[in-house]
Amino acid sequence: MNTGPKVTTSPILAELISSVREASAADDFRPEQVRDLLTNVLSRGDDWLDRKYQTRHGEPKGKLYPLFRAEDRRCSILVAVFEAGVPAPVHNHGSWAVVGVYRGRERETWFRRLDDGSSPGRADLEVQRTWVNTPGTVNIVPDGTIHTVEAIDGQDAVSIHIYGTDIVTQERSSFNVADGTEEAFSPPFSPTDD
Ligand SMILES: [Fe+2]
Repeated sequence: MNTGPKVTTSPILAELISSVREASAADDFRPEQVRDLLTNVLSRGDDWLDRKYQTRHGEPKGKLYPLFRAEDRRCSILVAVFEAGVPAPVHNHGSWAVVGVYRGRERETWFRRLDDGSSPGRADLEVQRTWVNTPGTVNIVPDGTIHTVEAIDGQDAVSIHIYGTDIVTQERSSFNVADGTEEAFSPPFSPTDD
């Protein structure tokens, strides 16, 4: 398992990883702390994130780079690169998440669940709210949220996602809103050990 900051060369990214890891050791580890840490690093003016994590490398559906996964599963950090106009599948996380935009703009949509979840494979969703996140914006996504994001303006978007779980192995769902269905979700994560 990739559990350390050895995959990165950016000092600010290494600082973010170590500060989140340190915060996660406390019993009262909360997304508000992570939001403050991520807001701080995103306020740095320079382009500090490693270039290799800012590109899709031609992958049409985008890239997910897990940069840190705590051995105790208390937190994980990934960078997502989304292609403009290609919405991520509607999904949940199985945990809280904190998401901050590094570059580009992302349209985010949250869904409200109308059924009680008692029928396996079925999920009746409607749009709850939609808005646009700009660089430096950091949002807490509470556990249980169902959402999607899409890079807009014809430009790829890069965002940093921090979870209160190991997102790579976390059980979670994706949803087909039109069909009213739910299924297990395991997106392809890109290797970061190089
Ligand atoms: Fe998400």
